[in-house]
Amino acid sequence: MSKAIIDLSGKVAIVTGGTRGIGAEMVRTLALQGADIALNYRKSVDEAAKLVEELQAMGRKAIAVQADVSSMADAEKMVAKVVEELGGVHILVCNAGMNWDGVIWKMTEDQFDRVIDVDLKGTWNYLRACAPYFREQNYGRFISVTSINGIRGKFGQTNYSAAKAGAIGLTKAAAKELGKYGVTCNSVAPGFILTEMGESMPDEFKQAAVDESAVKRAGVPDDIAWTVAFLASELGRHITGEVIKVDGGQYI
Ligand SMILES: NC(=O)c1ccc[n+]([C@@H]2O[C@H](COP(=O)([O-])OP(=O)(O)OC[C@H]3O[C@@H](n4cnc5c(N)ncnc54)[C@H](OP(=O)(O)O)[C@@H]3O)[C@@H](O)[C@H]2O)c1
Repeated sequence: MSKAIIDLSGKVAIVTGGTRGIGAEMVRTLALQGADIALNYRKSVDEAAKLVEELQAMGRKAIAVQADVSSMADAEKMVAKVVEELGGVHILVCNAGMNWDGVIWKMTEDQFDRVIDVDLKGTWNYLRACAPYFREQNYGRFISVTSINGIRGKFGQTNYSAAKAGAIGLTKAAAKELGKYGVTCNSVAPGFILTEMGESMPDEFKQAAVDESAVKRAGVPDDIAWTVAFLASELGRHITGEVIKVDGGQYI
């Protein structure tokens, strides 16, 4: 990412899980296109502070808020703070996510609940907190970051696949509820992407992901960031309720 090619000036974007991996790249890309940024994270305090400095050096307004996406109270507090300090919210990217894999006969209830709370409920929490603002201003862009594994299911990921499938359903329902208020709601479903989460997969899974892709390479965060920037902009204004796989043909 090194170019400004899409106009997001005057827009404020919230990106959950914006400190690392795909989220950090999206934050940089959206900021470079002119958006002011509020990012959220759970534990990467130093990374968040550094990224905020980087965005401010680009001439953007930027804040980072430590907040667990699974907490509705935290979501409401963060969105209120963003509106007060940055003057509004126009783009919401629900990117924060985690995996905690295990086959179903070994997965604990905690393991299932935690992934649902972060990946699915965390998405609903932030959309719930932003929706009144979107509705009132007759404008909004909601993008959930899901996964091709939420469409096809993955061995060892009953919790994660269920959470991502849920987030896709949530996004489509939201598109129907919010469309008449000028709000588009879409989901970006990455394939295997080189981040800490991607790298944490066993070697044979990573190789299999590359082998099954049409392009024979793993994705990088930049691949996802541009799709999100497009959907967040006027270029994507008539696209809603869609799930866009960004996976180098891994799903086909
Ligand atoms: N990498 C892949 O191959 C891949 C494939 C398909 C889909 N995805 C999806 O893409 C998204 C980003 O993944 P990634 O690979 O960039 O992951 P990552 O490198 O592990 O980064 C995860 C980000 O989410 C934040 N986060 C995690 N749990 C949180 C919580 N409870 N509250 C607030 N923030 C939380 C982390 O914050 P801290 O830094 O503070 O922990 C971090 O910023 C996720 O939704 C993931 O499911 C990834």
